[in-house]
Formats: sequence, C-alpha cells, structure tokens
Amino acid sequence: MPGPRPSPTSNGSALPDFVARQFDHTQAVHDHRQLYNILERGIRESVLAPGSRLPPSRQLAQTLGIARNTVVHVYQQLTLEGYLQAQVGRGTFVSEGASATSLVWTAPSAVNAPTSPRPLSRRGRSLLSEAGAARLQWGAFTPGVPDVRLFPHETWRRLNARVWRSPVPELLSYATEAGDPHLRRSLAEYLQGTRGVVCTPEQVVITSGTQQSLHLIAQLLADPGDKVWLEDPGYWGARSVFRALGLKPIGIPLDGEGMAPPPSQWRQAPKLMFLSPSHQYPTGVVMSHGRRRRLLDYAATRASWVIEDDYDSEFRYGARPLPALQGLDSHGRVIYLGTFSKTLYPALRLAYLVLPPDLVDPFSRALSELYREGQTPQQAVLAQFLAQGHYTSHIRRMRSVYAARHDTLIASIKRHFGSHLPVIGGDAGLHLVLGLPAHLDDVAVAQQVASLKVITRPLSLYHLQQPAPSRGLLLGYGAVEENAIPANFARLAHAVEQFL
Ligand SMILES: Cc1ncc(COP(=O)(O)O)c(C=O)c1O
Repeated sequence: MPGPRPSPTSNGSALPDFVARQFDHTQAVHDHRQLYNILERGIRESVLAPGSRLPPSRQLAQTLGIARNTVVHVYQQLTLEGYLQAQVGRGTFVSEGASATSLVWTAPSAVNAPTSPRPLSRRGRSLLSEAGAARLQWGAFTPGVPDVRLFPHETWRRLNARVWRSPVPELLSYATEAGDPHLRRSLAEYLQGTRGVVCTPEQVVITSGTQQSLHLIAQLLADPGDKVWLEDPGYWGARSVFRALGLKPIGIPLDGEGMAPPPSQWRQAPKLMFLSPSHQYPTGVVMSHGRRRRLLDYAATRASWVIEDDYDSEFRYGARPLPALQGLDSHGRVIYLGTFSKTLYPALRLAYLVLPPDLVDPFSRALSELYREGQTPQQAVLAQFLAQGHYTSHIRRMRSVYAARHDTLIASIKRHFGSHLPVIGGDAGLHLVLGLPAHLDDVAVAQQVASLKVITRPLSLYHLQQPAPSRGLLLGYGAVEENAIPANFARLAHAVEQFL
C-alpha cells in the first residue's frame, strides 16, 4: 500500500504525523506489524532520511493510541536489523545508509498480495496482540536455547544413516501409535530413574513439542471459557496456547514455595493448572513439598488437571532436583510434560506427555485426528540415541559446560554490580534473571542492551499482571561461549548502568 509520502525529513518532527496518517486502527493487522511495516518501508524508500530522529516511544504511542511496549519492540527490532541506531541519552535515529543496504528482492507473490491485509479472527487478533515469541534465537544472552553447536551430530548422523538404510513402509507413513514404541520404553525408564516419574511405556505419548502437548491438553480437557491457573510470571508459550483456544488465563502470584493462590482463587477451582514446580519459569523457584501436596489434594477434590512442565530439570548445578510432582500423585490428576528442546535442540520438535492411563487412548486418537503425526524416522533415531546411552552422556557433558558458563556469568554480575542487583533463580537450567529495581522500565533497558547487540528478555513480558510487579532481565547462557560472557556482560552492564 503506497502510503502518503511526506517530504523527506531530517529531524523527525513530521514523523509522528507521517506514521499516524498511515496507521489504520480498523485493520486487523497487529499494531506491532503495522508500525513495523510503516517505519521499515519509510526507511527503505528514503522517505525517512538517514539521521532522522525518531520520536520518543511514549510520544509515538500516545499519538497512535497504542501500547508503548509495542513502539519499544518495533524500535528494538529495527535497531537489531540495522535500520535504526539508539544513542544513549540522545534518542533513536535512522541509520546512515539504511535505505541503500536494506533493499530487498521482492517476490512476485508479494507484489500480487492484497493491498490491505484481510481481517483476522477475534481469536487471531487476541493471540497476536500478546505474542511473546522472539525473532532472535541465538547469541549472548538469548534465553531458553541450549548450545546446539555442541550437539553430537556425528553420532546422530551415524544413527540416522542406519535408520535410513532400509526403512520399512511404516516408518515413512503416517504415525498411528502414540510414538515410536522403543522411544516410549526408553523414556519411561529414563524418567523413572532420573525424575521419579511413575509410569509405564504406554503412558508416554510423543508429540512435536510442548506447544503441541499443551494444545492437545487444552482441546481434550477444557472448553472455551474454562479457567486455567498460570504462574505469574510464567511461560508465555503456554499462555498463548490457552488464550488461542478460548480458555481464561488466571495469573497466580508466586512466593518462595512456588505458585501461591490467594484465598479468593482457592474458592474458584480452575479446569487446568499449569506449573513448572522443579524450576519455575522464569524465576527458578522450586515448589516446596508442602505446596505440592496442597495443590495435588486440591486438584483431586476439585477435579482440576495439573500440568507439570518439567522443561529443564536435567541442568541443576547445586542441590539435586526434587523428584517430579507426578510421582506424588495418587489420583491420576497430573499430566507430566517433557521436551528435547533444551537437552538436544529446539528444531528437533520432539517432546512427550506422561498421561494418567485412562487418557492415553483419547490423546493418541486426537493426536492422529488433529495433526496426522509423523517424524517417525527422527523418533527411531532418537530411540537409538537414548538406548545406546548417548542421551545421558550428552546431558552429563552439557551440565558441566553450562555450570562453568553459569559461574562465569554470576562472577561477571558480581564484578559489575556486587550485591546491588539480585540474581534470581540462578542454580539450575539455562538462564537466570538479573533483578532490576521495580520502578525501572525493563523493556527500555532490554532495548538499550539490544542496540549493543546483546539479547535479553525483560521480565515484565512474562507477567500477566500489568504493570508488571517485578522487573529484570532474563539472561540465557546456552547460546554464548564461556569466554565470550565477560565482554558481552560488560556491554550489557554499561547499558543497565545508564538506567540505575
Ligand atoms: C517453560 C518452557 N517450557 C517448555 C518449553 C519447550 O517448548 P517446546 O517443546 O515447544 O520447544 C520452553 C521453551 O522455551 C519453555 O521455556
């Protein structure tokens, strides 16, 4: 859509009007995407001249009547892509040469695309208005990703070659079971031995990611309008699935023992509870034994389902992890979720559910019905990877790699901030949270940090309650080598210091 073209501006004063004229509130396009498109096109077509100063995010948000976070995120994204440059204390500017370097080839299909985007469903709009997935998934300090460079791909290649040497037709057809039987057996043994999960191989159902596991649970066990308790702060991915399926997310605050429902919530039982009791995401709180018992008893008497997300318990650097909640459940109310995204690599898209026995048949039928499951050769390779001991030795190796990075990161934090800024949840997993004072705008801090090519995620984005009651930066150490941590953290610290 060729928007109105103001004369090129060098001081940005005409810019809010320029954007406002093109910004169309009646369009179903997410505010973020719309603002991004307007600014990106303006820069690419030199309508916004190199060196132009962008209005402060608060001002532009007010002019457009949209959330300030949306403007901040768009500035952050364009900064990372090289279109904009943030200058501490001065503002955000169109990069020199951005228009020349960013010219991209336009596919014919894009030329023929409809001139104005067609409306999305209410559900689609709601999903995208609170979307949490980040575009950048690699580099210091991207949270939530393992070091995929250290994945033993030679071993995988060898096992893969063996599976492909003479594949039987069943291996290349639609999957009809709840996953490769060898994989289900090896996983059941592994989970019993390492996590205290009580299950038979038949209770293990393979999916293509936790997101899909959550989809299945929400579709089979809840109806639109049903309540789901979510830890607040908590995993945005779960929130997105539940919201997209019309469930009602209820943010439950945390205390030192994990999810802590206030008295008013205990009175209104949810259909589902989503918990990460072994290493709360993202704060790292370990749920106490007493709280586990209380939630399990409550779920049993109120017929709620407890979803236990055990996403990264393999990596614990201090005390041994508490066994899984699932092992304490004598009423069959817990659905245990695991994933290979943290232990192997996220693009593998393999995960699993451990279900109470009576749910296995409905879940495996729904899996075929909704998703026509496959990935059978991958599952066969993974089954051998587990059976031959490669999985446990890879985890052992990675645990010591991450432990060293974790220590280096903590040392860097202490060197720069002493005990001035707290480290939250730093004894397990692949990330920690650097706490910031509650009055600080952690989205703006993360944006500033991003302009120095360091990736973090603001803690406030993980909160359902807004304005977020706690602030901080999530720092992952899976995607950064140990020796690169001090220099990257020094850049981050420099940016953070401007705000303190
Ligand atoms: C809390 C939590 N659970 C689960 C997952 C894994 O999801 P998936 O298996 O879909 O990759 C993630 C990934 O970031 C996560 O942060």
